[in-house]
Amino acid sequence: MESDENKENERKIAIMEEDIAITKNMAQIKHKIAVMSGKGGVGKSTVSVNLAVAFNQKGYHTGILDADFHGPNVPLMLGVEGKHLDADERGILPVLTKENIKVMSVAFLLPSKDSPVIWRGPKKTGALRQFLGHVAWDELDLLIVDNPPGTGDEPLTVLQSIPFLDGIVIVTTPSPVALEDVEKCVSMAKSLNIPVIGIIENMAGFVCPKCGEESFIFGSGGGERIATKMEIPFLGKLPIDLGNVSDSDEDMHIITQNNNSLFSQRIMEIVDKIEEHIKKRSD
Ligand SMILES: Nc1ncnc2c1ncn2[C@@H]1O[C@H](COP(=O)(O)OP(=O)(O)O)[C@@H](O)[C@H]1O
Ligand SMILES: [Mg+2]
Repeated sequence: MESDENKENERKIAIMEEDIAITKNMAQIKHKIAVMSGKGGVGKSTVSVNLAVAFNQKGYHTGILDADFHGPNVPLMLGVEGKHLDADERGILPVLTKENIKVMSVAFLLPSKDSPVIWRGPKKTGALRQFLGHVAWDELDLLIVDNPPGTGDEPLTVLQSIPFLDGIVIVTTPSPVALEDVEKCVSMAKSLNIPVIGIIENMAGFVCPKCGEESFIFGSGGGERIATKMEIPFLGKLPIDLGNVSDSDEDMHIITQNNNSLFSQRIMEIVDKIEEHIKKRSD
């Protein structure tokens, strides 16, 4: 009996030590933002990656944590897929993109890019806590966290595990069904006492490159309406941009490829609004 008690105490101490490591490591990063959505496929990773590139261009020393265990697309989108992890006395070293963005993803732990992640809950939580506590992020200005989709256990664990989050950015498409999920994201943030920085409406309109006419394939204006209804900031609309759809494996984010596109302009406007929010919090 006594040894069971000892084991239990040791387990609790290990968790507390890990909590301290996470708190110390995260305290070195000035700002932390989580990107979430009510469901997959709405553009969370696209937005996360483009925000990271845009903030980095603005002079923020930026990192990105791909916390989507079942769809870790960030390395592919940033042109660092297939890289292996190194470690030194400071901990696990994040992979650097050519723009010097620090990237950590479960994809780096998989034997091949086609391997599915079939870990159970505790193993995923363990890996996430390693990423937070033992990756040598060092003194970043900003960490962007690409959350798992939805409002279930996994995104909940991610949001609960990151101390000092500045807030969440919610990504949605303009369709009424996607918008319903926004309400769930807002409720989740509220229940965790995490500020909602605002909503981004992605895939809002497509400008035909041939005739220049704009079509609203997934509807329009829904993101703005739900933001007003829920009294949270609306950060902007991102158009469907074919630059995001690439056949090559590298550099799928588009803002460095085509800085004059409407998509890039809108990302920059969104970044200004997010910057305003995080500056206010650090005043
Ligand atoms: N604004 C956009 N224009 C064109 N393609 C987009 C846009 N946003 C996302 N996509 C594409 O849609 C798919 C899903 O986006 P992704 O960012 O992976 O979504 P999520 O991370 O929410 O699952 C990807 O193939 C991505 O390239
Ligand atoms: Mg994704």
